[in-house]
Order: sequence, then C-alpha cells, then structure tokens
Amino acid sequence: MAEPLQPMQCSEQTESALPGLTPKQIVEELDKYIIGQDDAKKAVAIALRNRARRRMLDAEMQEEVYPKNIIMIGPTGVGKTEIARRLARLEEAPFIKVEASKFTEVGYVGRDVESIIRDLVEMSVTRERAKKTVECHTLAEESAEERLLDLLVPPNLVRPLATIENRREDDYQDQNARLKTTRERFRQMLRDGKLEDRMVELDVQERASNVVVGVPPGIGFEELGIDLKEMVEKIMPSKKKRKSMNIAEARQILIQEEVDRLLDMDQIVHEAIDRVEQSGIVFLDEIDKIVGRDSGSGPDVSRSGVQRDILPLVEGSTVFTKYGMVRTDHVLFIAAGAFHGSSPSELIPELQGRFPIRVELNDLDEEDFKRILIEPKNSLLRQYAALLDTEKVVIEFTEDGVEEMAQMAAELNRETENIGARRLHTILESILKDVSYEAPDLAGQTVKIDAEYVKEKLSGIVADTDLSRYIL
Ligand SMILES: Nc1ncnc2c1ncn2[C@@H]1O[C@H](COP(=O)(O)OP(=O)(O)OP(=O)(O)O)[C@@H](O)[C@H]1O
Ligand SMILES: [Mg+2]
Repeated sequence: MAEPLQPMQCSEQTESALPGLTPKQIVEELDKYIIGQDDAKKAVAIALRNRARRRMLDAEMQEEVYPKNIIMIGPTGVGKTEIARRLARLEEAPFIKVEASKFTEVGYVGRDVESIIRDLVEMSVTRERAKKTVECHTLAEESAEERLLDLLVPPNLVRPLATIENRREDDYQDQNARLKTTRERFRQMLRDGKLEDRMVELDVQERASNVVVGVPPGIGFEELGIDLKEMVEKIMPSKKKRKSMNIAEARQILIQEEVDRLLDMDQIVHEAIDRVEQSGIVFLDEIDKIVGRDSGSGPDVSRSGVQRDILPLVEGSTVFTKYGMVRTDHVLFIAAGAFHGSSPSELIPELQGRFPIRVELNDLDEEDFKRILIEPKNSLLRQYAALLDTEKVVIEFTEDGVEEMAQMAAELNRETENIGARRLHTILESILKDVSYEAPDLAGQTVKIDAEYVKEKLSGIVADTDLSRYIL
C-alpha cells in the first residue's frame, strides 16, 4: 500500500516579493482588452505600483503615506468595470465589485460595509483552495489508485509467524509475487477503464449535514462571519458508513478524500488572507449614488453615513472574519461612477483625501467601436466566431460589415440612449440571431457578414426608433 502523503507535500513555495509588472507593462496588458481610455489605464497602473511602493516602506512611513486610491469618472459602458476587472486578473488579485448604492437601500440597511472584506476573504479562500487542489490532484489520483487496488486485490499476504520449513517461506514468497502481478494486471485494467462498472464496497464519511441549524436571520451571526452550520459539523463526530458502489464513483470519493487530506487548510487560509491584505482590490461601483444631499426622511441610510462607514475600510482598519483578522491597509479601492450632475468634490472631505487619483473616461465613438469589435483578444467577433465554430459554421466578418455595425452602434447611442460599448452586444445578437438559430443545419458552410447583411438584419428595427429602444 502507498505511504500516506504528508499534508502540503504537493504545494510549491509561494513568493511575496514586490510584484513585477511596471506601470508600462500593466498598460500594455490592458491594451490587449480595452480600447482607448489611456488616462484611466495609466492611472490604475500607477495606483497599483504605488501600493507596491507603499508596502515597501517601513511601518512608520507607511502611516504617513495615504493609500492612493482611484475614482474613475465616465458614462456607462465605456470600460470602467472592465479595466478594474482586467487589472485584478493581471495581478491574480482577489477582486470584488460592490455597488455603493446597495448600502443605502431598504433591506440593506444595517448591512455593514465590512461584509465587503469578508466576502473578499471568502473568495480568496475558495480560490486558494482551488489552486492547491489542482496542485495536489495528481498526487491524490495516485493514492486513490492504490486505494482502489486495495479494494480489488488485497495488498499483501500475512507472513507466516514462524517459518518452520523453508517450503512455507517459499510458498509465501511465491504467492506474494503472484499477488503483485495480479495487482499490476488490475492496475492496467483500471487505467484502461475496463473496471469502471465493477462494484466495490467503500467506507464513506457521513457528513452531519442532516443536522438542521436554524437561526433566525438578522441575529448577527452572519455579521460576525460565523457559520453556525459549519461549526456544528465540525463538532459532530463524523460517522463512517459502508456503501456499495462502482469503481467510477469510488474513485471520485477517494480522490476527494485524498485531496482533503493533502490540503493544509491552515496554510490555505493564511495565504488567502495574505493575498487579500497585500493585493486585494475592491471595486466600488456607483460611488456617485452616495454623494449629494440625503433624502431626508424614510428608511434610507443617509448617503454621507455610508461614506463615513466606508472611510475606515479605505483608511485601513482591521476586519474580523471567520478566518481571522484582516487588515485593509493595502487593499486597493477603485471607485467608479458617472457623476452626472454631481462631482467627486461632493464626497465627504476625508474620503476625497483617500481617493486622490481622479480619471475621466471618454465617450466611445464609431472609430472606437470598430476597434472594440476587432482588436481585443476576447473581442465580440472572436467570441461569436468561436461559438459558431463549435457547430462547424465558419463566420466571416468583412471590413465594411464591421464598419456598418460600428456606425449603427454610434447612431443608436446618439438617438436612443447612450449605453456605450454595450450597444455592440445587442447589435451583434440581433445580426447573428438567424445564423445562431440555424447553425446546426449550416455545418460546413461559410457565412459572410458584410454591410449588406448587417443592413438587412437591422434596417427594420433601426427605422423604428420605438422598436429599436426595446430591441437594440
Ligand atoms: N474601451 C473599451 N474597450 C473594449 N471593450 C469595452 C470598452 N468599453 C466597454 N467595453 C465593453 O463593454 C461592456 C461594458 O463595459 P463596462 O462593464 O466596463 O462598463 P462600465 O464603464 O463599467 O459601465 P457602467 O457605468 O454601466 O458600470 C463590457 O463587455 C466591455 O468589455
Ligand atoms: Mg460598471
């Protein structure tokens, strides 16, 4: 039988040096996905670098240097969220997006802003765990295979207590050798998938999940970050139950058991919290919704009240989570909002001071749309082409076709509502609706999308402003 592996044998050492990407490199990476908005890209790149720089200062100096958070100002659909999201991916940073306005809504009253950090940690733990699981998977599979073989062929014979005669020892050796060969033969069959349906018996852990833990909502456990059910499960002794199942099922269970055994939860939590503290990014959307005068009466939490709640997080404080304490000193906050008829200068002064970097994003025009359709690595055209490729339909966008789409998008944004690049999603969906529907019957064919095609599909809708309001 295989030696049981020690926890975390399979984990690599994690580094924690100053992150390598320079502002220029960050902008280059963002360029692959986002067209234009150069100022915004530069600003986030600088903010990221400044965070890294601040982390390098000694504790005393760190106190002096305020975090350099950002406010992105710009109309809807021009890339605010996309920039933040890509930035987080680049850094492999824990990232969370929250709508600031949520905290003033009825039903959210009293939901403390610290839940943002708790959610961020939760996400980070899940991700760290998934990462480690992948690292451990091969090892877990190997041990699971041994355990499957144990179920099929006993590992080895019991050596006779005293070997009175040589013959008995010989017998023993003989049988053992034969057993080994059998085991190897079974191993081969297992690997060839020939035993998947063979039934075996396995002792499986019975989770205490049938215990119903009822806590009335709003009692505060969630706020404290305590998961009562999980606690009860930990206290309850886990029972084992013998179950009969086929090899395929047994393998899954055994792999999971091995993974659980190999994973060192303490280390995972430690690294997850470390990631949040060192490179977490909180995207505060709709920040403009919490500026301005309070509505006065009603169940709304006052807007400046929410700003005051957010302030400590941004300034750096300690948040209690079920995984332990998390410091927010180096969490990067990126706020965004349209700021129609209001301005960041209406934020409470303390908060303004913590968001020193302001950047405006531009409206997108026809030329931008054209580039957005074509250039990004994940451009819409590529996405649709890939989707239809699964049906063996080749889709070809001609240049005048793309131009037509871009022009339509710009026109519709002018005439109906300006929804920025989101317009391209609705337009493409309408253009390709028929092809998408008929694709299974078009296998092997090439569909050419030129200006003619685009016009034909859209003319009816565009002509009618009322209709286009709903459809495009
Ligand atoms: N400059 C751009 N380059 C490439 N794609 C873009 C650009 N701007 C927007 N998009 C695309 O348009 C969609 C909407 O963009 P995004 O979510 O960033 O909007 P937003 O600025 O956050 O708007 P909102 O204020 O409504 O939240 C996304 O799919 C995004 O990929
Ligand atoms: Mg957004």
